[in-house]
Amino acid sequence: MGFDQSTTTSYKALPTSISYYPCRKCCSLLEMKSICSLIVLFLVMLPNAAAYDPLDPTGNITLKWDIVSWTADGYVAAVTMSNFQMYRSIMSPGWTLGWQWAKKEVIWSMVGAQTTEQGDCSKFKGNVPHCCKRNPIVVDLLSGVPYNQQFSNCCKGGVVSAWGQDPIGSVSAFQVSVGVAGTSNKTVKLPTNFTLLGPGPGYTCGPAKVVPSTVYFTPDHRRKTQALMTWNVTCTYSQFLASRNPSCCVSFSSFYNETITPCPTCACGCQNKKNCVMSDSKQAHKKGINTPRKDNAPLLQCTHHMCPIRVHWHVKLNYKDYWRVKIAVTNFNYRMNYTQWTLVAQHPNLNAVTQVFSFDYKPLVPYEAINDTGMFYGMKYYNDLLMEAGPQGNVQSEVLLRKNKDTFTFKHGWAFPRKVYFNGDECLLPPPDTYPFLPNSAHVNPIPILTMAFSVLFFMFTI
Ligand SMILES: *[C@@H]1O[C@H](CO)[C@@H](O)[C@H](O)[C@H]1NC(C)=O
Ligand SMILES: *[C@@H]1O[C@H](CO)[C@@H](O)[C@H](O)[C@H]1NC(C)=O
Ligand SMILES: *[C@@H]1O[C@H](CO)[C@@H](O)[C@H](O)[C@H]1NC(C)=O
Ligand SMILES: *[C@@H]1O[C@H](CO)[C@@H](O)[C@H](O)[C@H]1NC(C)=O
Ligand SMILES: *[C@@H]1O[C@H](CO)[C@@H](O)[C@H](O)[C@H]1NC(C)=O
Ligand SMILES: *[C@@H]1O[C@H](CO)[C@@H](O)[C@H](O)[C@H]1NC(C)=O
Ligand SMILES: *[C@@H]1O[C@H](CO)[C@@H](O)[C@H](O)[C@H]1NC(C)=O
Repeated sequence: MGFDQSTTTSYKALPTSISYYPCRKCCSLLEMKSICSLIVLFLVMLPNAAAYDPLDPTGNITLKWDIVSWTADGYVAAVTMSNFQMYRSIMSPGWTLGWQWAKKEVIWSMVGAQTTEQGDCSKFKGNVPHCCKRNPIVVDLLSGVPYNQQFSNCCKGGVVSAWGQDPIGSVSAFQVSVGVAGTSNKTVKLPTNFTLLGPGPGYTCGPAKVVPSTVYFTPDHRRKTQALMTWNVTCTYSQFLASRNPSCCVSFSSFYNETITPCPTCACGCQNKKNCVMSDSKQAHKKGINTPRKDNAPLLQCTHHMCPIRVHWHVKLNYKDYWRVKIAVTNFNYRMNYTQWTLVAQHPNLNAVTQVFSFDYKPLVPYEAINDTGMFYGMKYYNDLLMEAGPQGNVQSEVLLRKNKDTFTFKHGWAFPRKVYFNGDECLLPPPDTYPFLPNSAHVNPIPILTMAFSVLFFMFTI
């Protein structure tokens, strides 16, 4: 259970978001008390990590500034953004990177990216800098820019793949020529206050740190060169900074009980309920309904959960040595196509995945001893695009799992996942007392209840 306990750290970032879990009432259960006191102990001992994902504990986005040459009044740096997160990508409209200059630096020019504003360059006569702002805001260029404005790994509209899905696409880079700056590694001042939107909020960046200079090999690998100076900035993601509400929910069904356990009502907050679109209404077929908005505001199909994404887990078949699950992901946002989507599930039987049909699958093993988490993603050119809400707006797969004789059971909701993430955001599961039960099995579901206990406990301690 080490997993669930550590999750609670991520709630530290924004304690109010605990109301996510509609579970104040389970706190009154007497049986919780002993568990609670144990967890208190555990929480007290935990380091204060603001953004921490237990399923991807080292996940981060690292920015690396390599000074490749000194100039008369500054330097030229190659800036590389590496997404080391296993399953969280930066989707369209892409990243926005900001920082604050330590002194009065200006940007003479950029290759492979641009600042959104030039700022006040009136002091400069003749040559005018690309940007004179103290807080430059940088965005990637779109693909198809002229060749002389390109830089390696640039010009992807700021879209960066997740490391676990596409390591080659998980890098974005540009070159910046900085003036009115230090011209040696003794006088150069590191930029501060880095901010990263990916594309929305959620990332927190640490300070720049000087690290050993990057070593480059010549193409024939016979000569090494190195950057004149290198510094790194690490940014980590917290879902609770990204949004107050979850952005996806999970529903369940099984062959052994005809009850379908729906997503919790208002799982993603019901604030969009006023402008939602009924799927059978005329509006749903109007022209332009799928046009994305600049601010990426969703236009959702009306549902009781009001989530842009629903993940359905159906326990489909029971064989002697195997069992089979069907997974379906449905998009309810008319204004969003999810390219390169990812789905992460945690379930103890994922240590014995025998076959995954029509999705790609990769086990995630952040803790060597525990192999209970895996990542599903679409097959390239087949179903790696989850289309906008409507008849095409879903992707599906089936998974064949080999039973482990010691642990396998359909009782107590064991066959359902412990955690589900879509595109790196954790999805809200239904309350445990609503899971489809095996006829005649006791109505207890120890694992999810325990998870809830942790959240509730945390709730009590942050108020
Ligand atoms: C960032 O991720 C990389 C790759 O997983 C890891 O080696 C590095 O330690 C991480 N950095 C931090 C500061 O967590
Ligand atoms: C700096 O960032 C790069 C990724 O761009 C990474 O490979 C390197 O290990 C980092 N260095 C340190 C000391 O974190
Ligand atoms: C600065 O450069 C000198 C050599 O030019 C080197 O000895 C020193 O370690 C460098 N300092 C840093 C902080 O990179
Ligand atoms: C930069 O960040 C520091 C620490 O968060 C803050 O004190 C300072 O005011 C910031 N500077 C600006 C101009 O935003
Ligand atoms: C989604 O992709 C389809 C096909 O490429 C396109 O016609 C549609 O406009 C896209 N929808 C959105 C919301 O971008
Ligand atoms: C984890 O389980 C998968 C099957 O689900 C298997 O292919 C993989 O080798 C396992 N990894 C480890 C480290 O046990
Ligand atoms: C099916 O599961 C529900 C709980 O979701 C339960 O109330 C019901 O009794 C179960 N049906 C049977 C036939 O056991």
